Amino acid sequence: MVHGTTRIIGIIGYPVRHSLSPVMQNSALQACGLDYVYVPFEVVPEELGNAVSGLKALGVSGFNVTIPHKTEVMPFLDELDQSAESAGAVNTVKNDAGRLIGYNTDGDGLVRSLMAELEFIPQGASIALVGAGGAARGAIAALCRAGARRIVIANRTRDKAAALVSLMADRFPCVEFSTADDFECLEGCLGEVDLLINTTSFGMHLDNRRIVCLDNLPPNARVYDMVYAPPVTSLLRDAEQKGLRHANGLGMLAAQGELGFTIWTGSMPPKGLMKSVLDSICHY
Ligand code: ATR
Repeated sequence: MVHGTTRIIGIIGYPVRHSLSPVMQNSALQACGLDYVYVPFEVVPEELGNAVSGLKALGVSGFNVTIPHKTEVMPFLDELDQSAESAGAVNTVKNDAGRLIGYNTDGDGLVRSLMAELEFIPQGASIALVGAGGAARGAIAALCRAGARRIVIANRTRDKAAALVSLMADRFPCVEFSTADDFECLEGCLGEVDLLINTTSFGMHLDNRRIVCLDNLPPNARVYDMVYAPPVTSLLRDAEQKGLRHANGLGMLAAQGELGFTIWTGSMPPKGLMKSVLDSICHY
């Protein structure tokens, strides 16, 4: 029930109607008995600045930011947390007494999901990562903060992988970075890899082609696909067939949401609730 005292949290994106965050966040808010409501706002790119000023003027408690606004929103905020600085993108904004502070919980959400679902320990790990876009950047920053030792990146457009590596190598000098010329070259580097992670949208469209062949991965390596629709991509099917531990991106979506929930409300959501809400919507 919405009262005169109810506070608002939102999500801005374009489009936003397919977002799973409203159902996941409202379930957690209700379970905690918190007087908040989480609302979707479809914001066209030309209106982004006006929308952010409007949300601030309305005194919302905070909001999520999704595609295509994650980078473009940054100049409209008053302050950036280090998580947003190093990812170069914002997915969570807190209204702190009229100051909008941008955070990025995607990367830490990924690390939490890897630890919770795959018992993967980033400390000292060797990681092969596919993609060099915004999702890859956030993932790399969080994995480096969590102690990754070696990261090799392959991307369809090789120059973008090289640019990302040079940016990250400056920020995290203790991590050994490299690029693979193409996906086939990456396959040749998988022999000593602890985790293979896909950060691209490849696999989203029921595509049966393989982005990377997993034959060279050691038997204890983990495979993570940030894609969660469909829940089982060709990459995850291959991992399953090879007996490799694997997970899709639903756990990351839930974990970034849990971190945002705490940033906005100061409370912890019930453990596992967001993930079970998502599992109940995204049928396997
Ligand atoms: P995001 O913020 O989700 O990472 P992005 O910044 O647009 O989105 O980056 C998309 C990533 O997915 C890029 O690494 C892109 O490769 P390119 O740099 O070559 O464009 C990758 N990608 C998207 N579709 C792909 C496909 N069909 N095959 C391989 N890589 C793909």
